[in-house]
Amino acid sequence: MDIENILKKYSKDKSYLLEIMHDVEKSKENKNLDLNDLKVISKYLDINLSAAYGTATFYSMFSLKPQAKYVIMVCSSTVCHIKKSYDILLFLKSLLNCDDDNLSKDGLFAVSEVGCLGLCDISPSMMINNQVYGDLDENKIKQIVGELRNGSNGA
Ligand code: FES
Repeated sequence: MDIENILKKYSKDKSYLLEIMHDVEKSKENKNLDLNDLKVISKYLDINLSAAYGTATFYSMFSLKPQAKYVIMVCSSTVCHIKKSYDILLFLKSLLNCDDDNLSKDGLFAVSEVGCLGLCDISPSMMINNQVYGDLDENKIKQIVGELRNGSNGA
């Protein structure tokens, strides 16, 4: 749905700013708001562009940067750490050629460390979007990334 159709769902009431921004962000291929989106939204709601920009930068749920298609969260808590999750993390970053922001060179993947995912029985573990993976090793990581790249994994 394009931005014009999203705006049609809402009256020109400033209190809808967050909902509109959320819907617009969700509708974008890279799941981010850009300056043009904020201009269109602020014009529609008759608010200053700086107010829309301030809202977009204040709430962490919004992003002005393109988002990765696959968000990978590698558990770094105790059980996974004991089972070498840090090595998994380093291997993953190297395999994906991640930059200092932990974004893969192709922009497809974002990698981060998180606390316990509640998957200790299959540690070391990670989540990619809403899909869980456990008993990780380098071969399994290569297989998962390969499947994501060729579209045979529905994460
Ligand atoms: S410690 Fe990693 S899932 Fe619990």
